[in-house]
Amino acid sequence: MRDLSPRPGDLEPIETASVDEIRSLQTTRLLETVRRAYEHVPHYRRALDAAGVHPDDVRGLDDLARLPFTTKADLRDNYPFGMFAVPRTDVVRLHASSGTTGKPTVVGYTRDDVETWATVVARSIRAAGGRRGHVLHNAYGYGLFTGGLGAHYGAERLGCTVVPVSGGMTERQVQLIQDFEPDLIMVTPSYMLAIVDEMERQGVDPRSTSLQVGIFGAEPWTNDMRREMEQRLDMHAVDIYGLSEVIGPGVASECVETKDGLTVWEDHFYPEVVDPVTGTVLPDGEEGELVLTSLTKQAMPVLRYRTRDLTRMLPGTARTMRRIEKITGRTDDMIILRGVNLFPTQIEELILTPALSEVLSPHFQCRLEREGTLDSMTVVVEHRPTTTPADAARAGDDLRRLVKATIGVSVAVDVVAPETVERSLGKMRRIVDARPRR
Ligand code: DLL
Repeated sequence: MRDLSPRPGDLEPIETASVDEIRSLQTTRLLETVRRAYEHVPHYRRALDAAGVHPDDVRGLDDLARLPFTTKADLRDNYPFGMFAVPRTDVVRLHASSGTTGKPTVVGYTRDDVETWATVVARSIRAAGGRRGHVLHNAYGYGLFTGGLGAHYGAERLGCTVVPVSGGMTERQVQLIQDFEPDLIMVTPSYMLAIVDEMERQGVDPRSTSLQVGIFGAEPWTNDMRREMEQRLDMHAVDIYGLSEVIGPGVASECVETKDGLTVWEDHFYPEVVDPVTGTVLPDGEEGELVLTSLTKQAMPVLRYRTRDLTRMLPGTARTMRRIEKITGRTDDMIILRGVNLFPTQIEELILTPALSEVLSPHFQCRLEREGTLDSMTVVVEHRPTTTPADAARAGDDLRRLVKATIGVSVAVDVVAPETVERSLGKMRRIVDARPRR
């Protein structure tokens, strides 16, 4: 893999600013954001009044903890445009996140917001090793989902040649990768796996393509998955994080030279990690729920948005801005099995341990069932195409024992043939909940 570390002069000045400079910029921007939200969004005026906080009381970053949280329910209650802080005519773009139930949440952008978004995504692609002149294959879905257009505008801003493929038609994805010889690919990690499988099916050696970096996000994936991708594709695999409510992709991103968690672009988004139950702000280093405050957004500022994503704050390394650790999962995706909490990412890590990953593939789902009052979970995992039935059965037993030994709960493991676990074109559904509703 090529060394794609940034050269002096590649970075924006703010990326190498001192922590003091960053805090001072954040303070100014936070005060403006709180005032704008209070003056232009009835929801925020009501919420701040109810909490007994006036924008005049907010003088610094320490005062942030006094502000009430914003949740997805607040966005739903104000569907579709009630959270906008500008007249609808100043909104040049809408996106929406589908959600699993009920109404979608709608987000809006002014022309300046679209610019900000392109800036942070361009910065993210550069951090991943992308440069002006690179060809970028964009397989994130285009449409209401923020992935496709978010990546697209950022890549153009950086000066890449964008191939706007979107998700789906996997055979054609492989064809275009061979014909256009992209340097970079942006796609969900689970759909990347489907593309790699398709390459192998067509007899294309995935290590021989032109790809140098994959920029993967929109769903949790582990460092073990990074190893799998980097080995199979002979390219760097880096993480990009974001959510529609806050802007889309580009809230935080990994730097290719360190690959040690995602640098939060703190000049635009202020991160906190809170106890998911009590809401208390946790010290850096402790795991909890990420809460984000936008610092520059105009159309839809968000104050202390509860992301439901679990991570920890870490000090800066490749940049001065702080990092978040790779996301473990969402609070909603936590499986509670006979009193033990677990996330699909923990299963992914075990499947991809060196001893098992030669036999088991990372295509898996966690299937939840209930018999009587007892919940049970089956890990349905595909074996690799070259595996013998005996090896597959043995690996299944080993995985079951490993889950019990490391997570502390008994599960069933069903090792199935390649191409039998459902594939996704975007975000993969890792949990299939077949339990009857209570
Ligand atoms: O998934 C935005 C995005 C697009 C990010 C492309 C990265 C790349 P939503 O559809 O609103 O937006 O979903 C946001 O996806 O709260 C996380 O639970 C999850 N998520 C996003 N990025 C990551 C990541 C986009 N790198 C929700 N790791 C978030 C883990 C992620 N989970």
